[in-house]
Amino acid sequence: MSADYVVKDISLADFGRKELDIAETEMPGLMACREEFGTSKPLKGARIVGSLHMTIQTAVLIETLVSLGADVRWASCNIFSTQDHAAAAIAAGGTPVFAIKGQSLVEHWDYLDRSFQFAENADGIGANMILDDGGDATLYVLLGARVEAGEDDLIAVPTSEEEEAIFAQIRKRMAQSPGWFTKTRDAIIGVSEETTTGVHRLYELHKNGQLPFPAINVNDSVTKSKFDNKYGCKESLVDGIRRATDTMMAGKVAVVCGYGDVGKGSAASLAGAGARVKVTEIDPICALQAAMDGFEVVRLEDVAGEADIFITTTGNKDVIRIEHMRQMKDMAIVGNIGHFDNEIQVAALKNHKWTNVKDQVDMIEMPSGNRMILLSQGRLLNLGNATGHPSFVMSASFTNQVLAQIELFTKPDDYAPGVYILPKHLDEKVARLHLAKVGAKLTELAPEQAAYIGVTPEGPFKPEHYRY
Ligand code: NAI
Repeated sequence: MSADYVVKDISLADFGRKELDIAETEMPGLMACREEFGTSKPLKGARIVGSLHMTIQTAVLIETLVSLGADVRWASCNIFSTQDHAAAAIAAGGTPVFAIKGQSLVEHWDYLDRSFQFAENADGIGANMILDDGGDATLYVLLGARVEAGEDDLIAVPTSEEEEAIFAQIRKRMAQSPGWFTKTRDAIIGVSEETTTGVHRLYELHKNGQLPFPAINVNDSVTKSKFDNKYGCKESLVDGIRRATDTMMAGKVAVVCGYGDVGKGSAASLAGAGARVKVTEIDPICALQAAMDGFEVVRLEDVAGEADIFITTTGNKDVIRIEHMRQMKDMAIVGNIGHFDNEIQVAALKNHKWTNVKDQVDMIEMPSGNRMILLSQGRLLNLGNATGHPSFVMSASFTNQVLAQIELFTKPDDYAPGVYILPKHLDEKVARLHLAKVGAKLTELAPEQAAYIGVTPEGPFKPEHYRY
């Protein structure tokens, strides 16, 4: 029988394991989950399909889910984000994983399909849980079930290339296993979703009456979006630009499109490296925040000819368009840190002259003769050109993921189809688990103080509407 994994090189497993051992020391939340739930194994019987960047940090998440009793199969959610040594370590440890850095889009959907192919249990059930990042695993099963039912629309797929690849894979699976999508959809107990863009898809599906199972929005745990999206990008954005280009950041003019959580971290990242940062926004609140954080708020068309570095962080489409790229100076650097590659109109550059500099770095010649450096072909550059966020901040995100999986799997009757956020006491618990590592000593509330501000000494400490 052929091996139940696809990785670049299984001999990288030892290197992967060494980095995994180091990452564990920086991921106190996940290690605490292993300690708290390792004996009771609340995920016994869970058959989790994971679709999330196959990095070293994700490897620690996978091994945590397994230590809590789950059967797991994994694919990456992006063609450039896999760390091949991490994938090798996971495969060598016996968990099926399908991920190679630089895989094609066709392989992306094939590997996702393979991550769904659990041997059926006694009840004829294969996969029963999804852990998603960006919503591709959820999209695959729901869109496939729609196609089986004779419909072919669901939610917007980012690019036509992507659309072609997903439909080709759906047709392949339907030919191999008629009725598979409907059966799989009906077996899914719930999904936990990692990122803003995937969460947006889930709310859209629910609004349209097309979400048949409950979903936990992990992104909007405070200990996820206000940490990973912000402090994570603060470290990993500049890391990606440096590894790709070795450009001097200090003194350069950088434009950050979008000033949400990722934009705030990205602007701070560039400013910390000495760049002079300008911000574009469509939301007056975020624009005012950017201005009061000291950034000039501009329109892209007004600065496209002046800046050296352009970064999209919006989760929206067509943000940097061909007319902006035509205005740029020679050797401007352009990249995206949002989830999908449609923030930059990369398709409009197809007929230009491309020179591949190295993996995930291309130089593109514009009709004017000016050249542009495009990072990761417009896909999220902190994972394409570097190794994503550091372990510590991913520990907070992934501890939310583990708690969400336990919640959905062990309390299916508590959750009707819909999109939920973990309760605040769990959010506070995730933060609490990360305090000791940074030497933070929490002040305890006196009972009279707690009564005065209307909370209990153990928390939760803030009302639901508090924004942090
Ligand atoms: P957010 O909703 O907090 O921020 C996005 C901001 O972009 C908003 O303030 C919005 O007003 C603004 N915006 C929308 N259209 C715009 C336009 N045309 N021009 C200028 N601004 C515009 O979302 P968040 O959490 O910051 O996430 C952004 C993207 O990054 C999402 O796709 C998310 O999935 C992804 N993400 C990527 C990570 C990474 O490591 N690369 C980590 C976390 C999230």
